[in-house]
Amino acid sequence: MRIDVLTLFPRMFDGPFAESIVKRAQDAGLVAVHVHDVRDWAADRHRTVDDTPYGGGPGMVMRPEPLTRAIRAVRAGDGHVVLLSAQGRPFDEPTARRLADLAHLVLVAGHYEGVDERVIEGDVDEEISIGDYVLTGGELPAMVVVDAVTRLVPGVIEKASLVQESHTGGLLEGPQYTRPVDYEGRRVPPVLLSGDHKAIAEWRRAGSINRTAERRPDLLPSADLTPEERARLPRPAARRPRVSDEELVRAYRSGVGSYRIAARFGVSPATVRARLRDAGVRMRPAKGAPRGPTAAEVHRMRKTGMTIRDLAKHFGVSHVTIIDRLRRSKA
Ligand SMILES: C[S@@+](CC[C@H](N)C(=O)[O-])C[C@H]1O[C@@H](n2cnc3c(N)ncnc32)[C@H](O)[C@@H]1O
Repeated sequence: MRIDVLTLFPRMFDGPFAESIVKRAQDAGLVAVHVHDVRDWAADRHRTVDDTPYGGGPGMVMRPEPLTRAIRAVRAGDGHVVLLSAQGRPFDEPTARRLADLAHLVLVAGHYEGVDERVIEGDVDEEISIGDYVLTGGELPAMVVVDAVTRLVPGVIEKASLVQESHTGGLLEGPQYTRPVDYEGRRVPPVLLSGDHKAIAEWRRAGSINRTAERRPDLLPSADLTPEERARLPRPAARRPRVSDEELVRAYRSGVGSYRIAARFGVSPATVRARLRDAGVRMRPAKGAPRGPTAAEVHRMRKTGMTIRDLAKHFGVSHVTIIDRLRRSKA
């Protein structure tokens, strides 16, 4: 796999990429990481890459020309271009796995107030955020993505280490212990010393499910659980506040479509329409033109290995819309 990183601060990558697993993966020829200075594509003597924002406001914005020149030079036809952005889709393990399947990834680190929107429209395939906070630049997020992706590239780390980890199968890993058996009066659970591999596997699985239920119940709806395990899950502590019929009617009468209302209020589009009809609302005729992403947009993202579910989440539409667009793209 090849990863190109475009940044204004290439030296920031010296340390992290010269140590541990990312270095070993490069030394073994499994991953090639190339860090480029965007200023190398600036056209003027001062190597200018930023300018003041149109419309006023604080800070500087990265100009489109050097950045698009840089992206087009390194993507070389097959590169999937990801902009690190506080406004991007949250980075998670399934995304890391999807990116690790690509042959060529281009990571663009923004800086200052961000990048000119036309770069995103014309040359970026997707935007990824590493969390709901704002960093000074996309360099640390790019390092996070390189690290998470590199360890998933086949051969980089032992396959067995990846199987029981947190976020594999949508669960957190359970508690782990090493020597000594007794540490300050806390003993290792006896099952781990029993040598009974089946019992140990069951204990670990239960620990993983319980820990996820305690710490990250939000992961459970999409976790890989058997029906027996799902049926035994503890009851969720708090439920999402329910949306009233009156709220749905007000939202619909303000001109917003039922699909969008469904996504915003966390109910299915069919439920929204049924409840609106029951509340006596006259439904507007569906607009002729298909809404949501185009067939070409869906097709392009599908090629990166996203599942239909990923695509629906990514574009904020139902899986039916995604299937429809994929059919159209084949027509
Ligand atoms: C100061 S931030 C710009 C924030 C931007 N004005 C906004 O409000 O969304 C500068 C750059 O840092 C990167 N960045 C900041 N926070 C990030 C996050 N949570 N995830 C990924 N990249 C981030 C992006 O590349 C961004 O262009």
